[in-house]
Amino acid sequence: MSLQNVAALADHARQVLENGANRPFAPAVELREGAELVSTLAFDGTPEPVSQPVVDRHLDQPSVRAPEAAEMLARLRAASPSLTWGDIHDGYGGEPGMEHFCRNYSYTPLAVPARWARGVAVPSPDVGLSFTIQAPGTYYPDHAHKAVEIYYVIAGKALWKRGGEPWIERYPGDIILHTAGMRHAMQTGDEPLIAMAVWITDVGSGIVVVRA
Ligand SMILES: [Fe+2]
Repeated sequence: MSLQNVAALADHARQVLENGANRPFAPAVELREGAELVSTLAFDGTPEPVSQPVVDRHLDQPSVRAPEAAEMLARLRAASPSLTWGDIHDGYGGEPGMEHFCRNYSYTPLAVPARWARGVAVPSPDVGLSFTIQAPGTYYPDHAHKAVEIYYVIAGKALWKRGGEPWIERYPGDIILHTAGMRHAMQTGDEPLIAMAVWITDVGSGIVVVRA
């Protein structure tokens, strides 16, 4: 299994962040920072491919009209046989009311703090780069973390809430910024949500569910 597909996926991520910085009203500073950090990643790990029921069911499912997002989906599909997909029980295990979410969400990191790195993931104290799949009909409750986070919607759609804003439907190609500590939530309907998440600060910070 080659790392070329993984490197191509990360390079496309860099490109999407750079392009995003040129859009009107985009969070340009954060996007340029994300692109710069992702550009430093060099993949030399050994693939430990692990798939998950959520990935097997949904990675090939949605179609995408936005060309840049469609290219990222194609690159994610191509890299997936080399990737270690996991569930998020480690993060939310034991938290009440999270069972349905944990069974219906999967993610794969390409860059994470060293203690979580396995397979092809690059141990990095500076940047987090992950790809996520949230199954249809799944609620990711309000949560927050110190890390500044950029999301990019690759495929499918979801209702999305940032801080005290109303729920907004998000589509492939959309960029969403979560500032440090900002609560956010996602609710899928009849389509899965496939997305990229980039942490550009505090990559070791924990995620907490916000309950009130
Ligand atoms: Fe987040």
